[in-house]
Amino acid sequence: MPSPPTKPSPPPCSGFISTTALFRSGQGCEGSILIDNGREADEKHAFEHQGVRGFDVIDIAKSQLESACPGVVSCADIVALAARDAIVLAKGPSYGVETGRRDGTVSDTKMADNMPDVSDSIQKLKQKFSEKGLTEKDLVILSAAHTIGTTACFFMTSRLYTFSGGVGSDPSINPEFFPELKSRCPLNGDVNVRLPMDRDSGQTFDNQILKNIRGGFAVLQSDASLYQDEVTQSIVDSYFESSRPSSGPSFEADFVDSIVKLGRVGVLTGSEGRIRAVCKSF
Ligand code: HEM
Repeated sequence: MPSPPTKPSPPPCSGFISTTALFRSGQGCEGSILIDNGREADEKHAFEHQGVRGFDVIDIAKSQLESACPGVVSCADIVALAARDAIVLAKGPSYGVETGRRDGTVSDTKMADNMPDVSDSIQKLKQKFSEKGLTEKDLVILSAAHTIGTTACFFMTSRLYTFSGGVGSDPSINPEFFPELKSRCPLNGDVNVRLPMDRDSGQTFDNQILKNIRGGFAVLQSDASLYQDEVTQSIVDSYFESSRPSSGPSFEADFVDSIVKLGRVGVLTGSEGRIRAVCKSF
């Protein structure tokens, strides 16, 4: 990833925080990304987490829960529950969220070192998911969470201007899409400008993002790369191949399976960790 001229500034809060924060906690679902002791060393301040926003939503939920039943619901569970609610609010599937997670007691920028990056090769993405017990199918289906939300130009301009050896663009971008992306994210423009990751329905949770990936309309390079590998391409295609949609795999049902699985990664239970009283501090 090229060095940014500036860090993207936080836009107004969004319920989508929790969906992305569920995924973006370095050790797993233990709320380490929420810690903000005002120290640059906190995981929240890691380069890899630039742009993650909406922490105030989690803080508000936590303070209401603490007034009603102090010391019971962990910040990690709030993130998992809020992720589900954000998906439902965007007209996606509802599902039961397993609870009982406890909060981690460590937060360090280094914890984000191994997060998937937009410029990782498909092999690297597969490997990083596999290290967390997640399959190639989970990689495809969970990346489809990009059916909602936005990205800063910061994360995609290298696809337009400096793709190979510092020059040129990503050939996998559909030529029809290219002028649109360039006008939204012009060369040397403001890297904080945001655009939907699903150009057709960025506020609605649906399988349009997979259609976009098939057609060369993916915004993020990591999403586009899912169609450049035989295995992940066939997983994307499987959602469109059946002549009778009811007999093919269900995107919504598979998403639920994968996100429940994601919610089990690196959890602390029993006497491990603690229940924080304030999500941003130990
Ligand atoms: C393959 C690995 C992934 C990579 C490389 C990746 C990368 C990114 C990037 C660069 C952004 C834009 C950040 C910004 O500009 O603020 C983003 C946004 C987002 N990601 Fe991912 N992501 C991945 C997987 C996931 C997963 C597994 C989920 C959830 C299940 C997820 C949910 C989201 C959501 C909801 C947003 C929108 C956030 C918003 O609108 O503020 N991502 N992701």
